[in-house]
Amino acid sequence: MKIAMIGTGYVGLVSGVCFSDFGHDVICVDKDPAKVEKLRAGEVPIFEPGLDQLMAKNVAAGRLSFTLDLAAAVAGADAVFIAVGTPTRRGDGHADLRYVMAAAEEIGAAMDGYTVIVTKSTVPVGTNRKVAEAVAKTAGGKEFDVASNPEFLREGAAIDDFMRPDRVVVGVETERARKVMADIYRPLSLRDFPVVYTNLESAEMIKYAANAFLATKITFINEIARLCERVGADVKAVSKGIGMDGRIGAKFLHAGPGYGGSCFPKDTKALARIGQDHAVPMQITETVIRVNEEIKHRMIEKIEDLCDGQLRDKVITVLGVTFKPNTDDMRDAPSLTIIPALVGAGAKVRVVDPEGRREGEALLPGVKWVESPYGAAQGADLIVLLTEWNEFRALDMGKLARKMERPRLCDLRNVYDRDEVLAAGFETYVGVGR
Ligand code: UDX
Repeated sequence: MKIAMIGTGYVGLVSGVCFSDFGHDVICVDKDPAKVEKLRAGEVPIFEPGLDQLMAKNVAAGRLSFTLDLAAAVAGADAVFIAVGTPTRRGDGHADLRYVMAAAEEIGAAMDGYTVIVTKSTVPVGTNRKVAEAVAKTAGGKEFDVASNPEFLREGAAIDDFMRPDRVVVGVETERARKVMADIYRPLSLRDFPVVYTNLESAEMIKYAANAFLATKITFINEIARLCERVGADVKAVSKGIGMDGRIGAKFLHAGPGYGGSCFPKDTKALARIGQDHAVPMQITETVIRVNEEIKHRMIEKIEDLCDGQLRDKVITVLGVTFKPNTDDMRDAPSLTIIPALVGAGAKVRVVDPEGRREGEALLPGVKWVESPYGAAQGADLIVLLTEWNEFRALDMGKLARKMERPRLCDLRNVYDRDEVLAAGFETYVGVGR
C-alpha cells in the first residue's frame, strides 16, 4: 500500500512511522520546512520512547520519507491520512477544523485516481461527511471514499499502542474503502488484533466516548480519594478492591492531581459542545470537566496546609511538571494550574523534570529549574511529587530528608510507602486519598 500522511505532529508521525514498519510505502507531509528538514536529517521533534530508532530503520529500508510537497505525495497514494491539528477554537470551545478542511481540498485537487481519504485527527461527529464534500469540491469527478480511523495512542507508549492495540476502529461506508483499510491493517488483523468496522458517525463517536469515559473513571476515583481522606480509607486499597471486578477493570483508577494532556481536556470539552449543539447535554462529562478543575485547586490547598497555611517565602521543590511521565508534553498539565498559584502566593518554587524544561520554561515563569532532586531539596520546606517519572520512584529518601530542616513530602501520585518515607527521616508524608 502507498500511504500519504498529512501532518507530522504527534499522531501523524507515530502513525506514519508505524505504517512504514508494517511494510507500507509512507510519505509524511508537513507545511513547516524546518520540521521536514529535521525529519529528513533523522531528528525526531517529539519525545517518544523508541520512535527515533523505528524511524531510522524504515527510512534506511526506503519505505519512509518526508516532504513539503503535498500534491506529489498524494498523487499515486492508495490512502491519504489527515493527521493535522484540531485545536480548541477560542471563544466557543469547538474543535477548529480549518486545517482539516484545507487539507481535504488540497487532497481532492492532487489525487490522481481512486483514493481513500482517512481522518485520524479527532473531529466532531459529522466531520467526515464534510471532508467528503470538501474533497469533492476540488476532485473534479475523480473517485474517492472517506474513512474515519481514530487513534487511541497514549503518549510515552504510543508505538506499543499502535503495534498491539486493544482494537482498531474504522468507519467506512463502501466495500471498496473497507478493502483498502483492511489491507492497511492486515499486519494487525493477521495477529488477531480486532478491527471494528462501523459507519462514519459511530467511529467519530467512539473516540469521544472512550476518552470521556476514561476521564470520568479518573475523576470518579479522584472524588472517592477525597472522601477516603475524610473517613480514614486508603484510595489505593479501594482502587484495587473495585478494579478486580471485571466489569470495572483496574486501569485508569489511580488517584492523582487531576487529568491533563492533549486529549482528555480537549475531547471532554468538545463532547460537551457537541451535546449542547444537539440539545442533549452531556451532564456527566460536563461535571467531570468541572470536578477535574476543582481537584487541581484542591492540590494547591493540600500544599498550603503542608506549609502551615502560609506559602509566602516557603521553598517548595516540585518533582515532575509534564502531564505524565515519558513525555515532554506540558499541554493542560496540572502543574500549569498548581505551580503558578504557588508562585503567585509568594512561594519559591524549584522544579526538577527529566524532559519538561524545554517547553516548561516559557510556561512556568518565576520558577528555578534544577537538575538533581537532591540539589533541589537542599533547604526546602516541602517536596511535592507531581509527575511519577521512574527516576523519582527510587530516590534515596534518607538523603532527601537530610537536606531539609523539617522534611515534609506531598506525594500527589501515591508512589511512595508512607512507613518507609517516615522511617527514612521525613516528619510528614501526605498522599492523595489515604
Ligand atoms: C489519552 C488516551 O489514553 C489515549 O487513548 C488517547 O488517544 C489520547 O489520550 P494520553 O493523554 O497520552 O492518552 O495519556 P494517558 O496515559 O491516558 O493519561 C491522561 C491523563 O490522565 C494524565 O494526566 C494522567 O496522569 C492521568 N491519569 C491516567 C490519572 O490521573 N490516573 C490514571 O489512572 C490514569
